[in-house]
Amino acid sequence: MLADLAAKQTRRPEFVPFHVPQIDENEIRSVVETLKSGWLTTGIKVKQFEENFAQYVGCGHAIAVNSCTAALHLALEAVGIQEGDEVIVPTMTFTASAEVVLYFKARPVLVDCLPDTFNIDPDCVERAITSKTKAIIPVHFGGQPCDMEPILEIAQRHNLYIIEDAAHALPAKYHDKMVGTIGEITCFSFYATKTITTGEGGMATTENPEWAARMRMMSLHGISHDAWKRYAKEGSWYYEVLRPGFKYNLTDIGAAIGIEQLKKCGAFYAARKRIATAYDQAFADLPEIKTPQCKTDGQHAWHLYVIQLALERLKIKRDQFIEALKAQGIGTSVHFIPLHLHPYYRDTFGYTPDDFPNATRAYERIISLPIYPRMTNEDITHVIDAVKDVAQGNAK
Ligand SMILES: Cc1ncc(COP(=O)(O)O)c(C=O)c1O
Repeated sequence: MLADLAAKQTRRPEFVPFHVPQIDENEIRSVVETLKSGWLTTGIKVKQFEENFAQYVGCGHAIAVNSCTAALHLALEAVGIQEGDEVIVPTMTFTASAEVVLYFKARPVLVDCLPDTFNIDPDCVERAITSKTKAIIPVHFGGQPCDMEPILEIAQRHNLYIIEDAAHALPAKYHDKMVGTIGEITCFSFYATKTITTGEGGMATTENPEWAARMRMMSLHGISHDAWKRYAKEGSWYYEVLRPGFKYNLTDIGAAIGIEQLKKCGAFYAARKRIATAYDQAFADLPEIKTPQCKTDGQHAWHLYVIQLALERLKIKRDQFIEALKAQGIGTSVHFIPLHLHPYYRDTFGYTPDDFPNATRAYERIISLPIYPRMTNEDITHVIDAVKDVAQGNAK
């Protein structure tokens, strides 16, 4: 028995963290080059990153900023959201998607998700529209694009803007269209755990040159267009403040990482897809677990792999399942605690768990498993074995 345990321990020596970014020599070299260049803040690296990103996604304009939250804020500002407006946001998301609406003293109107993909339910969107509604923020949950056709149709009929929260959705496709080319403005995240990273960072994409110029200006204090050049040889000391803006610009250090990460975006995607397929196959015969439902005609970016527990078949609850996985050396997470269950949204808007039954039900059952390119075959097997072990060991 001791020998068995020792064998198990040598086979599974390490903790598999929920996420580890893939940073190679290229990123390190690129950052060092930038550090040595004498130009650390927004400059040619950011410009290069924006150009490469626009080309990769196939969009007209890409504006680099220091977070997806900043991109969402700038997007709402560009389309003219004002105090008293309403913006429809799914409850199954991170607080950033809704908090940006509150920056304007506007109201985020939460709606439920679909029970299978956890993406925003278009019927709920339709029901939530009032005369004050100005925009919808669909969130491509886990990297699976929302079904955009009904959402676009509703938006067109009610004259609403679509600002997509694509924090999880690079590279994702809806039918054959890249996410980043569909709604009015799309916002991506390069936070440390995302599909590509700059440490902290984000990007807004749009086809509209006026919104692009507005977001660029507002991202750097609302000062005139090439403000970042004012300390460069070709720049001028003179600038004008045109609006009270924000300090949301990305640094060249971040962009130096982003340029290298973007080159590997396709390879990273292939690695995550391989892991998702391995999990799908391994858990297909495990009735205690429901694997993610892929309904996309297009491309799921597989930023997250979210399983649902069949609680009626288990003796333990989700939190205990997470603890049991941790004891076996597996890091996990929960995406998301729906917004309506958080004290702020609950107390400010009076939401109850029953207001959004699909999200509330999902929350009790979901666990996000590790899925990232740095995972070795042993890591993947370790996760699979641990999930099976915990599920079967606690089956009713
Ligand atoms: C759905 C969603 N939207 C927005 C964000 C905010 O991204 P950032 O940290 O780049 O501001 C996140 C971050 O986790 C997210 O998951």
